Amino acid sequence: MKRPSRVIVATCIAGLLAGGAITMRLQAEDKKENAIEKVMKTCHKAPKGEDPICKKAGDGKATTEEIKKLVAGYKVLTTAKPPKGDAASWKEKTGKLLAAAESLEKGEADATKKYKEAVNCKACHSAHKPD
Ligand code: HEC
Repeated sequence: MKRPSRVIVATCIAGLLAGGAITMRLQAEDKKENAIEKVMKTCHKAPKGEDPICKKAGDGKATTEEIKKLVAGYKVLTTAKPPKGDAASWKEKTGKLLAAAESLEKGEADATKKYKEAVNCKACHSAHKPD
């Protein structure tokens, strides 16, 4: 009975290796996709009880530092590939967001209004966020 058990051991090792390779590939893909999620977390989400930067920016209460984070984040979005939806729509939406954040940075008069229009969670999610 020695031979079959060796085969089983070999099969198990092969299985582990293959499993490991698949896990590693999934992690690599996750990393690539996560650019958008990271921006969402930094700019649009906040710990409980705190306002996210996007809310503060819309109210004209974001600090210079926070506005810088928005500009940097939205720059990432403009170059990222959306997981869903067509590229032209993504380019338009993220371009508007970036322009609005840059307008906030410059302290332009209608910047908060522009920004609130651009940061339309639902419009973008329904077009570009996978279910
Ligand atoms: C320009 C488009 C766009 C706008 C505007 C936008 N989002 Fe998103 N958001 C996305 C996309 C695309 C995803 C999905 C990313 C993925 O799954 O790879 C996403 C995912 C998320 C996630 C999930 C992140 C995670 O950890 O999985 C949250 C939370 C989120 N958005 C919050 C918001 C909020 C709140 C707003 C409005 C204040 C907003 N987003 C505005 C494009 C947008």
